[in-house]
Parts: sequence; structure tokens; C-alpha cells
Amino acid sequence: MSSPEGPAQEGTISIHGYGLYWKSFGGSGANGTLLALHGGPGATHDYLLSLGDLAQRGYRVVFYDQLGCGRSELARSLSEYSIDRDVADLEALRTALGLGRVHLFGSSYGGLLAIAYALAHPEGLRTLTSASGLADVPLTAREMQRLKRELPAPLPATLERYEDLGLFQHPEYLAAVQEFYRRHLCRLDPWPPEVRYSLDHLSLPKYGTMNGPNEFTIVGTIKDWDATSRLGEIRIPTLVTAGRYDEVTPVVAESIHRGIVGSEYQLFRESSHLAFWEERELYMDALEAFLVEHP
Ligand code: ALA
Repeated sequence: MSSPEGPAQEGTISIHGYGLYWKSFGGSGANGTLLALHGGPGATHDYLLSLGDLAQRGYRVVFYDQLGCGRSELARSLSEYSIDRDVADLEALRTALGLGRVHLFGSSYGGLLAIAYALAHPEGLRTLTSASGLADVPLTAREMQRLKRELPAPLPATLERYEDLGLFQHPEYLAAVQEFYRRHLCRLDPWPPEVRYSLDHLSLPKYGTMNGPNEFTIVGTIKDWDATSRLGEIRIPTLVTAGRYDEVTPVVAESIHRGIVGSEYQLFRESSHLAFWEERELYMDALEAFLVEHP
């Protein structure tokens, strides 16, 4: 059940001088193409593979690993890891693979990237889905800090103690981080192997440069990014989804929903950050219903 059925196509394509790995399910997709963007920044596409379910519903589903991630090449310089570069790579990849106007799906940082792309290249899009995405990094970071404070004792104090010491790799600290992730990143037990894979293969150069040492310590280059005031420019049909226990909280999702006129919003009540695994059937039904509305 965990991997999409049917033969996959895959390859490596040269984009701005680097090989980027892509993978696609569902042939040419009678109902259109969904292009999926992973988060991190620095994760891999694997944790999105449940979306391959849409191949059985008539969609071509295309994944790729962003620059510096997964099976794609590392950048030669850390300065190449940026939102602008990821937007430019996405546009080049969409064109080079001949995908046409796509249904763009972005999870977490992938949602931020999808929003940045929609502002720059609306002509490339049929629809936009922000799956636990964010448009306001400072708000997201404040919300994550709130969730951290609300963890059961002694977790908040343990986290604070090691953060004050800068010991982000201490085993006791990492165990406390894992408690946050169990509640707010993925509530399934065990985690699907695809999710495990993406976390185990997190690109430390990219994640460390753009995000920070962990999900709720956002001190990297994206920390001040906030596109809230520009959301009104987006005229693409948009679906915003979030989980009730999401580390990118419903408050963040609601701010995107308010900003994008006419957007739809769906909250998944038994989910945290990965509703497309945590409530897989329900999620695919909701996503398909939205896509069918906007062919
Ligand atoms: N760091 C989180 C992600 O992109 C928000 O997955």
C-alpha cells in the first residue's frame, strides 16, 4: 500500500548545471499532471510518495529532489541554496520535462516554494495546493515555539537547556526533539518507511543553510521570509490543507487561506504535518475533489 502501483518513469535532468532526479507515475495522465514539491528545505521526494495514489485516479504524478537533496546533486556553494534558486529550478524543470500547466502541490517548505512560484510564474499553473505550507516564516517559527512550550514537562525545559548551550546534537536533546516530531510531524507509529527515508537523508548543507538545526529552530536564510502581503496577487485556484496537530499550525494555514481570495481550506482532524499519510484516503479524496473542480 505504501508505494504507487504501476511502472514509474524516472531520470536525471540537467537544470542550471546540476543533475536533478525526477520520478513520475501514471503515464501521461488523462486528467492532468500533479507536480509535487517536498519540504525541508532539504528533504527528499520520498515522503510524498503516497500522492502516487492519484495515478490510479487518472493523474500523472511527478516528483523531484530539489537542488542539494536526495538523489540530486549537491550545490558547489552553499550560497546557491535559496528560495529564488528553487523557484528558477522548478520553472526550468517544468519546461524541460514538458509538463505544461501543472497542478502544483507543495508540502511544508514545498508549500512556501509553490507560493513563491505562483507569484513569479502563474502561467505555469492550473491549481496550487499548500499542504501544511507556509507563507510567513516568522509566524510559523512563533507558532512552533508555542507548540514547544506546550509539550509535557520536562520536555520544554530539556529543549531550552540544550538550546542555551548550543548542544543541538546531544542525545538527550535529540530524544526530546523526537517527542515533538511524534506529536507534530507525523503521528503514525511506526512512521512509513518513505517518511523515515526522507528524514534520514535530510540534506544537512541545505537544511542547515536555509532552515536550521531542527524544525522549530528556524535560524537559517529563510527565517525572515514573509509573502503574506502579496498573497492577494495569487489568482490561481488554491487548496490549503493542514493537520490539527501540525507543526506548521492551522493558524499559519488560515493566514494563507485568508490571503488567497477564493481559496479552499481543509483541516485534517487526526493529522499533524503529513495528513497525506496520516489520513491518506481522506486526503486523496479531498485533493481529487479539488482537482476535479479545476481541470
Ligand atoms: N521545515 C519544515 C518543512 O519544510 C517547515 O518541512
